[in-house]
Amino acid sequence: MEKEIHKNNKIPPNLKDYAETCKKFRWEDVKKELGLDTKGGVNIATNAIDAHADTWRRNKVALYWEGSGEERKKYTFGEMRQESNRVGNMLKSLGVNKGDRVFVFLPRIPELYISIIGIAKIGAVAGPMFSAFGPEAIRDRLKDSGAKVLITDASLRERVHQVWDELPELKTVVVTRLPETERLWKAEIHYEREIEKASYDLGVEQISLEDPLYMLYTSGTTGKPKGVVHVQNDMISHYITTKWALDLHEEDVYWCSADPGWVTGTVYGLWGPWLNGASQVVFEGRYDAERWYSVMEQYGVTVWYTAPTALRMLMKAGEEPVKRHDLSALRYICSVGEPLNPEVIRWGMDVYGLCIHDTWWQTETGSILITNYPSMPIRPGSMGKPFPGVEAAIIDAQGKELPPGSSGILAIRPGWPSMMRTLWKDEKRYKEYFQIPGWYTTGDTAHMDKDGYFWFIGRADDVIMTAGHRVGPFEVESALVEHKAVAEAGVIGKPDPERGQIIKAFLVLREGFSPSDELKDDIKEFIKHRLSAHAYPREIQFCESVPKTRSGKIMRRLLKARELGLPEGDLSTLEE
Ligand code: WT7
Repeated sequence: MEKEIHKNNKIPPNLKDYAETCKKFRWEDVKKELGLDTKGGVNIATNAIDAHADTWRRNKVALYWEGSGEERKKYTFGEMRQESNRVGNMLKSLGVNKGDRVFVFLPRIPELYISIIGIAKIGAVAGPMFSAFGPEAIRDRLKDSGAKVLITDASLRERVHQVWDELPELKTVVVTRLPETERLWKAEIHYEREIEKASYDLGVEQISLEDPLYMLYTSGTTGKPKGVVHVQNDMISHYITTKWALDLHEEDVYWCSADPGWVTGTVYGLWGPWLNGASQVVFEGRYDAERWYSVMEQYGVTVWYTAPTALRMLMKAGEEPVKRHDLSALRYICSVGEPLNPEVIRWGMDVYGLCIHDTWWQTETGSILITNYPSMPIRPGSMGKPFPGVEAAIIDAQGKELPPGSSGILAIRPGWPSMMRTLWKDEKRYKEYFQIPGWYTTGDTAHMDKDGYFWFIGRADDVIMTAGHRVGPFEVESALVEHKAVAEAGVIGKPDPERGQIIKAFLVLREGFSPSDELKDDIKEFIKHRLSAHAYPREIQFCESVPKTRSGKIMRRLLKARELGLPEGDLSTLEE
């Protein structure tokens, strides 16, 4: 496919020779390239924003913002510096200190990006939360992290009100876009009014590369979401992976469709591109084929980072909407989050004339670790090859490296700069990633071919990937049993052509409730509002019982096998 890759790509790639680069690569050199002189301390916001504002890039657009409606705004690097300084000063006046957690619960509006940068500037820890989260999801995150301040807006604050009583450590809630007619509640303050008072000058906190920068909660098979903690040092990975894997150049206009409430949106929709001094587009709205292409056309998007589910939906929307727009600026497309079907790659070749490049990584890895490069031929269906400086392998349960062609655990040699540093207050679960000596285990199974390309097989655990979002079955089950009609719940991921997987729930009803479609709808709505719009079960099946082990664990493996008509496997632990 090599020839086609360069069809629309007249710019020479940043990474010219993969094999050669791997040989010579040293993380130290990237650190030097970033000018990270750690003697006097560092701050990612200096490298991503302020340093550019000190050069000719002061007047270069950092952010093109397109609202869901008619609203448009743009911010230069100079303006981003000033606005984020004000946020930093506002937070300081609220008593936020280095290391304090400040959570951000906002739609994709400029304040979201500016706030995260402002938080970093004073050495606090940013916790972005996806705007579809319901009160339960918000409460778990704010409570576990002990967030001191939350920044939210008029449309979302009501969900915070519902759980505020359970959050003793939450001192202040800053609300943006609050209409004149609405009153502040409890310890809420106006974002705009406070910002107005804040100075444009801020001494950016100079901290250590190992000081925490942001935290994001992600799901595992068991328990509540885990708070993955990332540090300043991540910027080394952010910078170089954006440069080589996403191939961002000075003249690019880049669009990442992910929300900063997910790791892709924080790393590649904020830090990575700005560390590279690139102009990026943020679109506030949801997926919509027509609107997405119109965004790309208007801003002349050249590099686009998106997800397989979105691409599959665009494929379904067909070629007509593509033809109605001028996408001639587009030169490079990347994808992440779930397996990228070869069919989608072929379709992309046809309609965009470009090859879609798959990238693989996780919230925990903090940056792209396995990927396809513009200068390397892709093999449709493969995630590509390890990033220079990253050692990936397929291993067995004892940590033995398996030969090409064998399936096993996808594992990474610890030591890349953006590896998570801990799970917030949960060292025990953190250690579980490193149980096989010498390796970080990913929870994915994969194989490697004889030429070193990695191929995804599946998750080794019960984690569900739905439309690129990671959902833990336990969280959904816990929320389900809070519904008055539900006695027991078992939740699995069921294969779905568009979303990769959908969430399916098997429910045992309480005495006095009987199965009906209305009840199904009611339960779906309940989860959508309590937990999150991305995590509700699209399919519900009522049953007499949910299979459990003798120790009371739900046997999701068995539910799944039955659902898919697969062999039921070892049933010796099944409770009769
Ligand atoms: C899990 C991590 C990091 C951004 C998005 C998701 C799955 C990720 C791919 C890919 C097949 C993929 C894995 C991984 N995944 N990229 N290219 N092909 N699967 O981050 O929520 O932390 O989920 O997403 O199962 O373990 P996340």
